[in-house]
Amino acid sequence: MTGESEKSWILMATARSPTNIAVIKYWGKRDEELILPVNDSISVTLDPDHLSATTTVAVSPSFEQDRMWLNGKEISLSGGRYQNCLREIRKRARDVEDEKKGIRIQKDDWNNLHVHIASYNNFPTAAGLASSAAGFACLVFALAKLMNVKEEYGELSSIARQGSGSACRSIYGGFVKWAMGNNPDGSDSIAIQLAEETHWNDLFIVIAVVSSKQKETSSTSGMRESVQTSALLKYRAETVVPSRVLKIEEAIRDHDFASFARITCADSNQFHAICLDTTPPIFYMNDTSHRIISLVERWNQSEGTLQVAYTFDAGPNAVMIAPNRQAAALLLQRLLFYFPPPQDTDLTSYILGDKSILQEAG
Ligand code: ADP
Ligand code: DP6
Ligand code: CO
Repeated sequence: MTGESEKSWILMATARSPTNIAVIKYWGKRDEELILPVNDSISVTLDPDHLSATTTVAVSPSFEQDRMWLNGKEISLSGGRYQNCLREIRKRARDVEDEKKGIRIQKDDWNNLHVHIASYNNFPTAAGLASSAAGFACLVFALAKLMNVKEEYGELSSIARQGSGSACRSIYGGFVKWAMGNNPDGSDSIAIQLAEETHWNDLFIVIAVVSSKQKETSSTSGMRESVQTSALLKYRAETVVPSRVLKIEEAIRDHDFASFARITCADSNQFHAICLDTTPPIFYMNDTSHRIISLVERWNQSEGTLQVAYTFDAGPNAVMIAPNRQAAALLLQRLLFYFPPPQDTDLTSYILGDKSILQEAG
């Protein structure tokens, strides 16, 4: 390793990754260490302009240890998940040369160099909007860029999975499936893109931020408790999900919104039923979440066809999917009627964006 003046140099790389929202939920691991799920899952990756993590990684010989800051606050990297990602990327690191700065790092130097990581989420962290998915996908991308890792997306996705399961899907845009796989080493537990971002361009995603507070039970510990105590989880994984996956893949392929919406809502509700079936029960949704479900269900029933799909991850925040701009505008109107903003609110912040709306509801 050489640098212009021994310890003074610093090299940085930045990446941005979007979150993804599951329409068939991943909930339960069969292997905690490798993060292997008990069922397939399917998600839609959001537009990075709206909900994303941005991560900068820096390396310098003056850094004495690996350190990380999340949203400006230092966090511990001692948890196995961060170590897994760092280890796997370091293993694949290559020579890096920055001629302008006169820096030359050789492959093996990476084992003795420490990194500093700073990441920001432009949406609530640990509140059920899949910050761990955006966060770990982004961390892996940023480290791979810094260390000149040339592996394909499939490999990066498997590394991101070892940070947070849902992160393996955020490596790709559009609709993504994480196949659970069967191999004990996880080699066939991989994410694949089912359809590109442009495949179902009419869809609009509306997000109601019911609460941006950090949840009391993390996804990791919540699903561990469910695996240990819920009989419904076993039934869902073995009996319900396989046929749902086939049907929703078909609906996505054929742009069949009614079928897509029916399965999406049913799967969200079953996932939350498992949370209630867990001992002690886990309550991710709150009264406002329930009111939003009722509002959408009533609307869907009154029209005779499905207008909007809803889905809730491990948190109270609602993700609603509308088949087109007009339906999204009507949905927004209804949300504003039932959850009126305070009098002095600047309504321009509620205007329909090109793909998603972040709205504080109730
Ligand atoms: P969420 O529903 O938001 O995914 P989880 O309980 O699954 O909530 O995960 C939250 C955890 O994910 C955080 O406590 C943190 O450890 C990690 N995380 C969130 N955002 C980032 C990020 N940008 N970079 C790295 N890790 C992150
Ligand atoms: C409800 O991927 O956050 O969002 O693998 O333990 O990090 P870990 O869990 P995580 O779980 C996501 C659960 C979910 C459903 C989903 O995204 O499929
Ligand atoms: Co998560």
